[in-house]
Amino acid sequence: MSKPARKVSAAPPAPPAGTVLSVASECAPLVKTGGLADVVGALPAAMAPLGWELRTLIPAYRGLKERLDRAESLWRDDDLFGGPAQVLAGRSAGLNLLLLDAPHLFDRAGTPYLDEAGRDWHDNPLRFAALSWAAARIAQDGLSDGWRPDLIHAHDWQAGFAPLWTQGATPSVMTIHNIAFQGIAPSSMLSELRLPWDRFNPDGYEFWGNISALKAGLVSADAITTVSPTYATELTTPEFGFGLEGVIRARADVLSGILNGVDRQAWDPATDANIAANYSAGDMNGKSLCAAALREEFGLDAADGPLCIVVSRLTRQKGLDLLLESLPVLTGAGGQLALLGTGEADLQDGFQQAAARDPGRIGVRIGYDEALAHRMFAGADAVLVPSRFEPCGLTQMYGLAYGTLPLVARTGGLADTVIDANDAALRAQVATGLQFAPVTAEALSLSLRKLCTLFQRSGTWAKMVQRAMAHPVGWDASARDYARLYEKLT
Ligand code: ADP
Ligand code: GLC
Repeated sequence: MSKPARKVSAAPPAPPAGTVLSVASECAPLVKTGGLADVVGALPAAMAPLGWELRTLIPAYRGLKERLDRAESLWRDDDLFGGPAQVLAGRSAGLNLLLLDAPHLFDRAGTPYLDEAGRDWHDNPLRFAALSWAAARIAQDGLSDGWRPDLIHAHDWQAGFAPLWTQGATPSVMTIHNIAFQGIAPSSMLSELRLPWDRFNPDGYEFWGNISALKAGLVSADAITTVSPTYATELTTPEFGFGLEGVIRARADVLSGILNGVDRQAWDPATDANIAANYSAGDMNGKSLCAAALREEFGLDAADGPLCIVVSRLTRQKGLDLLLESLPVLTGAGGQLALLGTGEADLQDGFQQAAARDPGRIGVRIGYDEALAHRMFAGADAVLVPSRFEPCGLTQMYGLAYGTLPLVARTGGLADTVIDANDAALRAQVATGLQFAPVTAEALSLSLRKLCTLFQRSGTWAKMVQRAMAHPVGWDASARDYARLYEKLT
């Protein structure tokens, strides 16, 4: 959570197009557990040059209020789901933030979703219903400074009730960052969550007898987006839809996939203040210094093979159990691994044991460390992303930007951002990485072997690195897509 503060964009102000209330549970660099935060944090600066003014509403988790400059209270509620609340407006890290200050719900130790013992907060349904409620009130009544959004942009289940409560009054976009998380609550909470009884049915927010916050958003938003075109298609299938594929199919006319971008202010090897030496496609010298520093930091031997990294939540989604199985193939072919991640205990243990068995070739850090992540992208040759499903994925794009070639599973946004080095693509000189399918340990092993072979063809590899670094990963095209959508709805 220690990204450098973004610089305020120097772009000339665009004619005003409209105002948007962006609602989410995370926003980088203030609070981040994954890519959702990166995207929510980057969207305002991406949309500003197109004339869209975004204000971002997130909960005032412990310690966040102190990071707000010139905080002003612009909204109050004496009883927001069990206690008094206010919305504090102010600037932080170049963002126009609205913090929902409701101490009874958010002023706690732990992460946004988990208590100190790593369990879901028992009142998560209530906490994020409160976030959505405040968003809906702001959309309907405005803030006391007179600001009222033309549109609500709700991110993931934590904001899912906002489109339900504002339906017909304020246009809304519901963005699915990950359909595996749906915000399910028992039907006994219906009145506590202030939900309308008449929508508790299969066409509304009811999901197999329970309440689903994400489904509430999906059935009531004016538009649904997800974070890559391929994931938009995958979501309509039982394999990827997590039970909501029927709902998505029924709303296919308003569904689109808009690829995430990378915040180039924070992720650019030419300016990144976290790394041992800066470099660019035109001058790659710094990258070998970064590589040496990274090997030293992870205690890895000097080597002729590729230094691979993983920076990830350690969960089943990310397919890292497959990588554990395939590790002997990688090291056997001369490759090395440096992994940074936190998550499921068996994966943490598995990687730590692998590192203990082979310390010169495998290095593991269990934890969350933003600055180390930057050093890893700068110093590595390849980044591995063997996800079973991946709505968009950001680390493969950081890999492209840093000339650290991505080896990815052919799914979701991974399939949309990496051009596989098959023979045709190599001949046509378009490849930027490797894709494998199906998502099995066998296919991953084959791909790792291919990676090590390709790495030895240093001319081919260097060309792929150049192409990867030239691949556009910024927000430009996607910001235009969002602007077109916002315009259509307002
Ligand atoms: P997801 O949101 O599913 O976790 P993404 O690839 O979209 O996956 O985004 C993950 C983000 O979190 C990236 O910015 C990545 O660098 C960061 N990240 C994940 N794990 C760690 C960690 N242990 N330390 C630092 N950054 C991490
Ligand atoms: C989710 C997805 C990830 C995506 C991120 C930002 O966490 O798992 O693929 O990149 O959201 O949209």
